[in-house]
Parts: sequence; C-alpha cells; structure tokens
Amino acid sequence: MEKKHKGDQFIGREITFKVLRYDPGRDKKPYLKAYQFVLERGMTVLDGLMHIKETQDNTLAYRKSCRMGVCGSCGMLVNGKPVLACQTQISELGRAVVEVRPLPNYPLIRDVVPDLTQLFDKHQHIKPHIIRENWEEQDSPTAEYLQTPAELEQYLQFSYCIKCGCCIAACPTSSTDESYIGAQALGQCYRYAIDSRDEGFQQRIPLVDFPQGIWRCHFPGACSEACPKGVDPAFAIQLLKKEITLKILGMKKDRQGAKLAGPQENPRVVADVPAAPQKTAGK
Ligand code: SF4
Ligand code: SF4
Ligand code: FES
Repeated sequence: MEKKHKGDQFIGREITFKVLRYDPGRDKKPYLKAYQFVLERGMTVLDGLMHIKETQDNTLAYRKSCRMGVCGSCGMLVNGKPVLACQTQISELGRAVVEVRPLPNYPLIRDVVPDLTQLFDKHQHIKPHIIRENWEEQDSPTAEYLQTPAELEQYLQFSYCIKCGCCIAACPTSSTDESYIGAQALGQCYRYAIDSRDEGFQQRIPLVDFPQGIWRCHFPGACSEACPKGVDPAFAIQLLKKEITLKILGMKKDRQGAKLAGPQENPRVVADVPAAPQKTAGK
C-alpha cells in the first residue's frame, strides 16, 4: 500500500498563493495579489510561482536559476519564514493559503525580488579567499597546500554557504540596523579564519571588529535556524568572537599556513589530461 505523507490531503486541491506585488514604476506601495491553482504532487513554491507566470500573469517577477538549492537565488519569505522557494514543498506547508513575500531586511527591486547588493558587498568586505604571506607563490602556484581531513572538517560545514541571504532576513539585529555586517559575512570570516591554508586572520580582525561588526550579534540564533544549508552562522560567529578575543589578549599566536606539497614520488600519470588554460588575469 502506498505510504501517505504529511500534506497529501492538499494534492489535487485548489491552493491560493498570495504574492506580494510591487512595481516601483507603477505602484505607490506593495500589495498582495491572490492566485489559485490546483496543487500537483511534488510542486515547490518556486514551481507554483512559475506556474502562475506561465498560465495566469506573465508580469510576475521572481529570481531563480538552479531549481535545486545550489545557486542561492530563490530566497523568499513563505508563510513568514525565510526559505529557498525551490526547496519548499507546498504540500508540506500544511495550508491551502500560502503567502509569498520578498526576503525582509533588503531593499526591494520588484515583486518578490530583493536587492542583495549589500549581502555581496559585506561578503566581499571580509576577503573571502585564502590569504598567504607569500603572494608571489600564491599568484603562481607550484604545488598544492597540504591539508589533513581533520583540518578540512573544521571549516567544511561553513563552506556550504550559497549566499541566499535567508540568515540576514531572519536576524533581529539586521532588521534594526542595515549597517550591521551580518551573519553571512561573519560566518564566512570564521570559515577562512580556521582554514589551515590561510594566513589572513590578523588582516581580517579590523574588518569585523568595529561598532557595526561582530559584537552586535547577541546570539539568539535565528540565522542558523533559517539557514537552508546547515551552515550554522550563529555558531561560527561565537567561535570567531572567541578567536578574536584570544588574539586581542595576546593568547593566540599567528598561525603559519599549511605547507606546500613536496615533489611526488612516483606521480600517477593520467593520459590525455588537457593542459591548464593560459592565465587571463595579471599578465
Ligand atoms: S545569532 Fe547574531 S547574526 Fe544570527 S540572528 Fe542572532 S544576532 Fe543575527
Ligand atoms: S549562511 Fe546559510 S542562510 Fe546565510 S547566506 Fe549562507 S547559506 Fe544562506
Ligand atoms: S533556484 Fe537556485 S537555490 Fe533555488
């Protein structure tokens, strides 16, 4: 016998989507517009929006790309919660009426499309890349950096961030202070701080230790609850606070980044591997 799932009662029934609409060139203020359609098994909130656009209202604007929880484009507020629309089954919401709004704590471009410029600017601000003392070697690498599985494990969870912005939409501090650096950038700062290949911790401290920086996080943890990728930025932020405090108190030494791999003995030769492309930058 086929197993019944939570929400199966809604399959084949009419669902109402109340979607926030706003065109800054036309509307004085945002408003909710209702659309009805019959729910098919497996339909996500993004599928619902695509169905509305294809069959009822081609002026509806939303952002999407991968449709599989990878690109981070489709963050939205669904029944009051920040989620990825492509990963949210309508049937599992357990309601025949679904309210879809843009992620809060961002400026609105149109309908359910928020302007994520601040998110990307703040991410860029913390230098989200490996920093080495030896720039020459980093720019023209001669070998890989060595890293043990245990060292990888330390930052792996935090590297799953897809920059969807759901954490900032859930954060009470971000909702009252748009200059707060935010959960995403702080989480990624920790991700690089504990990467054994990185030597940039000292450089990054002033990038997060300022009045709108890390100390404004008071750890209710709403960001981690909202994160669809299990990154747990709230945890990363508290660990980063500890690392910075130890450094300021002189109780943490500068770490020397991972060593370069030496020449391999009996390297495995793989036939027909194409050569690396020519450098296009820094020529
Ligand atoms: S833990 Fe910090 S960053 Fe996360 S929601 Fe709370 S205040 Fe915001
Ligand atoms: S930490 Fe999570 S919620 Fe925040 S941007 Fe990254 S993936 Fe999205
Ligand atoms: S469309 Fe890419 S994460 Fe949803």
